[in-house]
Amino acid sequence: MNKIKACIFDLDGVIVDTAKYHYMAWKKLAEELGFEFTPEQNERLKGVSRMKSLDILLDIGKINVSYDEKIKLAEKKNNWYKEYISNMKKDEILPGARELLELVRNNGIKTALGSVSKNSMTILNGLKLTKYFDAIIDGNKVKNAKPDPEVFLLGAGELNINPKNCVVFEDAKSGIQAAFNAGMYSIGVGDKKILGKAN
Ligand code: BG6
Ligand code: MG
Repeated sequence: MNKIKACIFDLDGVIVDTAKYHYMAWKKLAEELGFEFTPEQNERLKGVSRMKSLDILLDIGKINVSYDEKIKLAEKKNNWYKEYISNMKKDEILPGARELLELVRNNGIKTALGSVSKNSMTILNGLKLTKYFDAIIDGNKVKNAKPDPEVFLLGAGELNINPKNCVVFEDAKSGIQAAFNAGMYSIGVGDKKILGKAN
């Protein structure tokens, strides 16, 4: 592989244990709409934007609603999610994440956040993790969710590092695909059966 000059980290499910809260909130919404939503189905939502996730969820439940109703449902999910993350403790930083951030920075390697979540800054500031990133790309900066490479390419751009010298850490299948699409090396965090495409 090429020389590593930057590491780009996804947030939910890589730095912090928040993937479970996204799932809990979507599951609650599904139940309110009258259908089951399984962890297997949830894999499709990881790395996907809030509105796109809602579309997938409604498709699974075979439910049709107006655009205005979708906005209300997405807001409802986000309010539950924000409630869950408001009580987050430092021990919900995933094991080794902070240590890895320190290690790469101490070795002169740049770091970026590459998440499509609009709640990224709330989480990073709440857990005092913001200082570990040289660049932060979140859901407020990107138009296209993963597997589109936009989020990672913007990160490399802000760091002024060639994509081929970047390593991406991801827990989502769509995220591994986004890294591939960006021409970056990828490390899957999770189940090999799901993230098999990772380097
Ligand atoms: C990603 C998560 O990091 O952010 C997705 O993997 C989530 O599950 C997406 O839908 C958008 O998050 P938010 O916080 O903007 O609703
Ligand atoms: Mg993730």
